[in-house]
Amino acid sequence: MAPQPRHFLDLASHETAYLRHLLELTGRMKAGEFAGRPLEGRTLAMIFRKSSTRTRVSTEAGMAQLGGHALMISDRESQMGRGETVADTARVLSRYVDGILIRTFGHDEVVELAREASIPVINGLTDLLHPCQVMADLFTGVEEFGDDPAALRVAWIGDGNNMANSWLNAAYRFGFPLRLACPPEYGPDPEILKRARSAADVQLVPSPAEAAESAHIVTTDVWASMGQEDEQRARAMAFADYRVDEAVMKRADPSAIFLHCLPAHRGEEVTAGVIDGPRSRVFDEAENRLHVIKAILLDLIG
Ligand code: CP
Ligand code: NVA
Repeated sequence: MAPQPRHFLDLASHETAYLRHLLELTGRMKAGEFAGRPLEGRTLAMIFRKSSTRTRVSTEAGMAQLGGHALMISDRESQMGRGETVADTARVLSRYVDGILIRTFGHDEVVELAREASIPVINGLTDLLHPCQVMADLFTGVEEFGDDPAALRVAWIGDGNNMANSWLNAAYRFGFPLRLACPPEYGPDPEILKRARSAADVQLVPSPAEAAESAHIVTTDVWASMGQEDEQRARAMAFADYRVDEAVMKRADPSAIFLHCLPAHRGEEVTAGVIDGPRSRVFDEAENRLHVIKAILLDLIG
C-alpha cells in the first residue's frame, strides 16, 4: 500500500514537536531563507466554498514565492458545486496536483477529502477549526514574548467558534493556560474543550475582564462567522457584553498584545481604539499567515 500523505487538518493530531518544527520553519521563511524555488513544478489546488482574502492570497502568493503554482477552485466553476462527491474530487485531484487546500463548512468534508486523497490536504478553515490561523497567532505570540508557546497566557473573548476551538487545540498541544469568556449558549466544542482540559489549565470564566487578567495575548473574532449571517441579530444581542475594549486590555499584562484573525467588525467584538491601537498586532498576524502557509507547504509538498 502506498504510504499515507501527511495532512494539516488540525493541531491536535500532530505531535507538539512537529508543531514546534513548523513554527521554527516559519521563522526561517520570514527571515528569507528558502529564497530559491523549492516547490518548482509543484501545483496546489485551493478549494474555496466560503469567501477568503488572507487564506487565499497568502497561499497563492506563498506558492508563487516558493516557485510553485496554485489554482483556485470555487463551487461556481467546479463540479463540486453541482454535487460531485468529495471522494471523487479527492481521487481526481490527486492525479493532477501535489496538494489541496480546502475551506468549507463541515469539518467532516475535509476529513473525508484527506482520507480519499493520495496527496497532502490542508485545512483552510471549517466551521470547527482554523489551524493555519492559530499557527500564525502562535507565531505572532512567540515573536513578541519569546520562543516558547508554552509560556504564553492567552485570553479568548466572544464566540466559541472555529478560532476558539483552534486555541483549545493549541493549549492541548503546548500546555499554556487559556481562559475563555463566551456567552453560555455560545461555548466551544465540548469534546475539544474536554481534551484541552486534560493537558492544560483551561478555564471558562464569566466575563471578558476575568479572561483578560494577566494575559499576554487577548484575542477575539466576529460574533457571526461565515454561514451564520442569518443569526447576526440574535448574536449581536447575546454578545453585547463580550467586546474587547480599552478596559478589558487594561486587565491584561502591561505588555499584552491584541490579536484578531480578521476580518474584524470595529464597534462589535473590538473597539477601534484597541484594534487600531498600540497593543494591536493584527497586521503582523495577517502577514504571518504567509510565512506559516509557506512553512506548511514546504513541509508537506516540498
Ligand atoms: N483570517 C482569515 O482566514 O481570513 P480570510 O477569511 O480572509 O482568509
Ligand atoms: N470565525 C470566522 C473566521 C474567519 C477567518 C469565520 O469562520 O467566519
